[in-house]
Amino acid sequence: LSSDGSISYTIATQEGGTQFKEGNATQTFGYNGSYLGPIIRIRKGQNVHLTTVNKLEENTSFHWHGLKIPSNVDGGPHSPIKPNGTATVDFTVMQEAATLWFHPHPEGRTGEQVYNGLAGLIYVEDENSDSLDLPKDYGINDFPIIVQDRFFDEDNQFNYQDIQNMDGTQGDTLLVNGTINPYIEVKNEKIRLRLVNGSNARNYQFNLSSKESFYQIASDGGFLNEPVQMDTLQLVPGERAEIVVDVSDYKKGDNVKLMNGNAEVLSINVVEGINPEIKSLPETLNKISTSFNSVSVPDKELTFSGMGNMVAINGKQFDMERIDLQAKTGTTEIWEINNSNDMMGGMIHPFHLHGVQFKVLDRNGKVPPANEQGWKDTIALYPGEKVQIEVEFPEKGIFMYHCHILEHEDNGMMGQIIVE
Ligand code: C2O
Ligand code: CU
Ligand code: CU
Repeated sequence: LSSDGSISYTIATQEGGTQFKEGNATQTFGYNGSYLGPIIRIRKGQNVHLTTVNKLEENTSFHWHGLKIPSNVDGGPHSPIKPNGTATVDFTVMQEAATLWFHPHPEGRTGEQVYNGLAGLIYVEDENSDSLDLPKDYGINDFPIIVQDRFFDEDNQFNYQDIQNMDGTQGDTLLVNGTINPYIEVKNEKIRLRLVNGSNARNYQFNLSSKESFYQIASDGGFLNEPVQMDTLQLVPGERAEIVVDVSDYKKGDNVKLMNGNAEVLSINVVEGINPEIKSLPETLNKISTSFNSVSVPDKELTFSGMGNMVAINGKQFDMERIDLQAKTGTTEIWEINNSNDMMGGMIHPFHLHGVQFKVLDRNGKVPPANEQGWKDTIALYPGEKVQIEVEFPEKGIFMYHCHILEHEDNGMMGQIIVE
C-alpha cells in the first residue's frame, strides 16, 4: 500500500512440491507458494499495480475472473507471459465489494495449469461492505473456501496429462484451500464462508449435515439485495457464493458439516462459547435494480453445443484471429444463451463472460431464483436451457466468453467480443 492509497502486488507462478497426504509430495503449481495463491485485497476506486513473474517453463497469464476491467489488463489468451517473463498491469477498481478469483488463461492450457494449482482469491471491498454488520474477521468468522477435486495416483501425483478428460477432468478427492479432510475451528456465532468452485469441471450441491438452512448473502459479483434462505446451493465451475452459517446455538464440541450431496466438504467445529455479537443479518445488503423483462428478440444469441473435441459456440470453435461479436460501451444488451442438448444425455455448460457483471433476466421463461437475482459472471446452463441475461460493457476492448468446464474452454468452447 503506498501513500496515495494505491496498492501493488507481485505474484510469481512457480513449481513446487505440496504435501497433501502421507508419502510423496505432489508436484504442483502455485502463486508465491507451492499450491494456490494469496488473497489479493483491493478497494473500489483504488489504483492497483500487479506484477506477474512467470517462473514456469511454459506460457501463463493472469486473469481477473469477475472483475470489471479493461481488456488489456484482463489477462486472457491474448496476454501470454512467457517463461521467465514479467508483466505489469495498472488499473482503477470499478467493481463493488465482491469475492472474485484469479487464475491463468493461456491458450489451450488453462485446464492443466488450474488443475496443478494456479488459482487464488480477490476480495474487493467498498463503503457498503465496510458498513454492513456481517462477519468479517478473516480466519475467525470469515473464511475463504476454494473447493476443488483432484485425483492422486499411487505416487501421490496429479498426472493431469494422463487423467485429463475432454469433457471435464474430475477427481475422487475433495480439497478445500488445498487441504484434504479440512476443518475450521470457530466460536458459536455466525460464520461467513466465501465459496468458490475452483474445480475444472465438477458441479457442487452444497448443504449442511444438520439439514438446517443457511443464508446466501453474495453471488459472483457482489452482495445480493437481501440475504436469501437456502437449503442447497449449486455452484458450477467458476461460480462463487458467500453464505452465512449460524452456529450461535451450538455448544463447544458441536460441529456441522458442509456437504456436497452426501460427501463431506468441510467440518465446522465449535471450539469456543461466546455471546455472539451479530444477532441478525442486515435486511438490506445491496441496491441492485431488478426487473425481469425478457424479450422475444434478443440482441445476441449464443448456442452451446457438442461434447469432447466437438464443443462449439454457435457452431464455431475458438479462433484467436476471429472476432465473433461486437458491442458498444454504455449500451445495455440482452443476450440469450442456449444449451442445445444435441447429444444423448447432455451436459451442464457453465457460461462465463469476461470484463462484466451481468444480470440474469429469465431462465426458461421464468424469473431466476432469488440467489441469482444479483450480479453474475458465471451461470449454469442445463441441457436444453435458454437463459436471458442483461449485460453492459463498461470498457472497450476484446473480451472472452466461454464454457467454464476448463477442458471445454481449452477445446474451443470460447468466443470473443469486441467492445468499441
Ligand atoms: Cu475463470 Cu475466462 O475465466
Ligand atoms: Cu473470467
Ligand atoms: Cu461445456
